[in-house]
Amino acid sequence: MLLSTSSPYRRVLCYLPRYRAVMATGLVCVLASRILLVYSPLLLRRALDILQAGGADAASRVAWTALAFLGVSVSAGVFTWAQRLLLIGASRRVERDLKRDLFAHVERLPVSFFDRTRAGDLLSRLTSDVEAVRFIVGPGPMYVTGTLVLLPLALLAMTRISVPVSLAALAPLVAIGFVVRMLAPRIMRRSRAVQDRIGDLSARAQESFAGARVVRAYASEDVEIAAFEHENQRLVAETLGLARHRAWMQGLVALLGGLANLVVLVYGGHLVIAGALGFGDLAAFLAYVGLLIWPMISVGWVVSALQRAAAAIQRIDEVLTEPAEPDVVTEPAVTAPRTAGAVQVTSLTFTYPGADRPALEQVDLQVPAGRTLALVGPVGSGKSTVLSLLTRTYEPPPGTVFLDGVDVTSIPLPRLREAFAAVPQDAFLFSDTLHGNLAYGIAEDLTRERALAAVAAAGLDSDVRSFPRGLDTVIGERGVTLSGGQKQRATLARALLREAPVLLLDDALSSVDTHTEARILEGLRREMRRRTVIVVAHRLSTVRDADHIVVLEEGRVLEAGSHQALLAADGWYARTWRNQRIEAELEDLP
Ligand SMILES: Nc1ncnc2c1ncn2[C@@H]1O[C@H](COP(=O)(O)OP(=O)(O)O)[C@@H](O)[C@H]1O
Ligand SMILES: [Mg+2]
Repeated sequence: MLLSTSSPYRRVLCYLPRYRAVMATGLVCVLASRILLVYSPLLLRRALDILQAGGADAASRVAWTALAFLGVSVSAGVFTWAQRLLLIGASRRVERDLKRDLFAHVERLPVSFFDRTRAGDLLSRLTSDVEAVRFIVGPGPMYVTGTLVLLPLALLAMTRISVPVSLAALAPLVAIGFVVRMLAPRIMRRSRAVQDRIGDLSARAQESFAGARVVRAYASEDVEIAAFEHENQRLVAETLGLARHRAWMQGLVALLGGLANLVVLVYGGHLVIAGALGFGDLAAFLAYVGLLIWPMISVGWVVSALQRAAAAIQRIDEVLTEPAEPDVVTEPAVTAPRTAGAVQVTSLTFTYPGADRPALEQVDLQVPAGRTLALVGPVGSGKSTVLSLLTRTYEPPPGTVFLDGVDVTSIPLPRLREAFAAVPQDAFLFSDTLHGNLAYGIAEDLTRERALAAVAAAGLDSDVRSFPRGLDTVIGERGVTLSGGQKQRATLARALLREAPVLLLDDALSSVDTHTEARILEGLRREMRRRTVIVVAHRLSTVRDADHIVVLEEGRVLEAGSHQALLAADGWYARTWRNQRIEAELEDLP
């Protein structure tokens, strides 16, 4: 079952060879420790037999036997210690390897994968599923080998003492295996549910803390408390359920173990009285019963753990078999050492995976290197989609998007993305210093001078001066909270530092006021002349100086031209321009 090619366990088996030596040594230790454990009751029996027989040298003979018992116990202890260290150690390393590969794969998946996958679900595959897999690498083989050695040897020793007593003792012991086998899946299911509930509770609390301002503003503290309490109750219900099942299992195991001892004591004691069994035999028998309880538990547990692991591997496999971002290995015939930055889009029609109608239809655009193109249009008209397709954040159809005349689908992704610096619509910064954020994705060390120059170009300089530790201020969750406009300007500075030939600004200054925007744009002009710029903006005053303006509506090009030409055409652009002028004038009234 474990080795067949269709087996779900195959995914894990390929991790084992590099830990072969450690695992083999570990299994030899299991062998040794179990053999020693089976041997020790025989020494016990011998000591009791000596005591019962009596005689002049009984004391010294018992002492020697006790010494042997000590030797066996110490060796069994050492081997047990070593087997755990080696096998559990190897399984933790396999766990690490699997996690590393899984995370590395997820990092290479296209953005569309994250559109349809919950982060929490991915996290549970990365943690509790990998943990379930670890069981069949370390603890699983350890218990199975232990049981396979101990069970037959102990049974052999027991039946040599007395077959009927063995059979009588075996009944409750086998029942232990069944009880565990029955309860183990429920316990595993419950503990997974407990993990999920803990996740829900943490997510609930985290969201409430992150949204503290909104909560206060809407005076909805009681709603939050009630929602938390609801999750809290669900968690405690799950935990108590788990405790109940564990209590049943442990209680039944203790009862059945006691029963096995009782059977031996009554039946065996009967035989002792009848003279058919020695005291030593009875004592050895009781010791064997004690030794057999754990293997019985582990048999029941391992069978369930294998099933659980198979399901976990399947869930991990689902992620690992997701195709990574497509990429071409062959170098295309790009001769220019550096991208000039000419962008062309021809008859681009694009539908998002799973969407029923195209987000873009027959779009044509052209930006010569070093020029500025503006994309404007109503919300949802496809402006951001155009930008995503340029960088292959979503994959455009071949033959529709070109950089310097080369189809982007034939340019290796790292090389393509090097050509672009993008300021996305929703500014995202990491919980790090401002400097760390600015240096993100830049190969060389970022000097303070360069960082400050970019900060100034993005119009964030006076803000940075007011920060407690300037560029070294920690921002985000663990530090200073930036305003929307500050975040946007920080991401703009980060993009400028990339020194990429094409700059993509997706409504990058929407959260700053008109006057600040005008000032920033003025400062950016020098930076913009050195690059190709594609700027998406809601405010038309932002784009009036662009070399070419394209108006999108419902995924189609509605009109295009220079600011003057579009005003003269008296269409959507001219109308929106007039409306925005009136709004701006109203805003400026004293
Ligand atoms: N990841 C996505 N998956 C499916 N549909 C999307 C996705 N992103 C955007 N859309 C849809 O594509 C259309 C264009 O969106 P978008 O390019 O974001 O417009 P804009 O940037 O002009 O506001 C909209 O109808 C939007 O709902
Ligand atoms: Mg958008």
